[in-house]
Amino acid sequence: MEILRAEKMGFCFGVKEAIKTAEQVSEEYCNSKIYILGMLVHNKEVMKEMSERGILILEEENLEKLNSEDVVIVRAHGTTEEIYKKLKDKNVKIFDSACVFVKKSRNLLKNKEESGKKIIFVGDKEHPEVIGIISHGKNVITVADFEEFKKIEIDKNISYYVLAQTTLNKNSFNDIKEYIEKNYSNIEVGDTICGATYERQKAVEKLAGIVDIMLIVGGYNSSNSKKLLNISKQLNEKSYLIETKEDLKMEWMKGCSKVGITAGASTPEKSIQEIEKLLKEESRDGKHGKF
Ligand code: F3S
Repeated sequence: MEILRAEKMGFCFGVKEAIKTAEQVSEEYCNSKIYILGMLVHNKEVMKEMSERGILILEEENLEKLNSEDVVIVRAHGTTEEIYKKLKDKNVKIFDSACVFVKKSRNLLKNKEESGKKIIFVGDKEHPEVIGIISHGKNVITVADFEEFKKIEIDKNISYYVLAQTTLNKNSFNDIKEYIEKNYSNIEVGDTICGATYERQKAVEKLAGIVDIMLIVGGYNSSNSKKLLNISKQLNEKSYLIETKEDLKMEWMKGCSKVGITAGASTPEKSIQEIEKLLKEESRDGKHGKF
């Protein structure tokens, strides 16, 4: 059995930074209560490690329990304007680990709105990153995809600015971009899909079609991992999202000799290696028949 890794996979720049911050904070403020607002990143393994460092998870609805000696780390997705304000009012020490791409998107939204443009945001309305970014605007139109975008009643007398969730599929966003260029001169499009996301999507496109099975290692709540799965599925029916080695089902491997692996931007290298190790052992021992 051959295991092929995608050229780009695993931890992105923003996640690495967020984890580094959390590690440093846990050492520097070991006498304080340290909280992470929500999940630092959408990965169970990473969060387990954080909890072993004594870092607690704080839900947004429980801010009242904070006091001024506490430390709060804001996750890589950022949070809403209201929550930032509440944290400041609580006078806690804040470490904002919102990724630079999220901050860029947030700033673009504010600046473009201030310059008189109406904002259209393409992304998952339920996702914390989207909820956080659009909260910094006044009256943002949010659409999930191209289909929803086409349903917006565009007023030719208004100027618009389009932003996208950092993890949006670049090909889908390009469809929207082309449509706008063909049909509207009053809509400007911003480029807010992050480079790490794009590189990982391109790499899975390259790999999924040449292997017998594709494994996408990532959190079940991780938006970028789910998008990698969708891209992979279009090229290879046998594409599976798994979070840890325990989720791997050996019956998927029957008749497969080439296994492709990729991982979401919040997946630690350790989880990927554990899966590779298990695959090699199972294949060698022939416990489930040679793959
Ligand atoms: Fe940032 Fe992109 Fe990672 S937005 S957190 S570098 S996936």
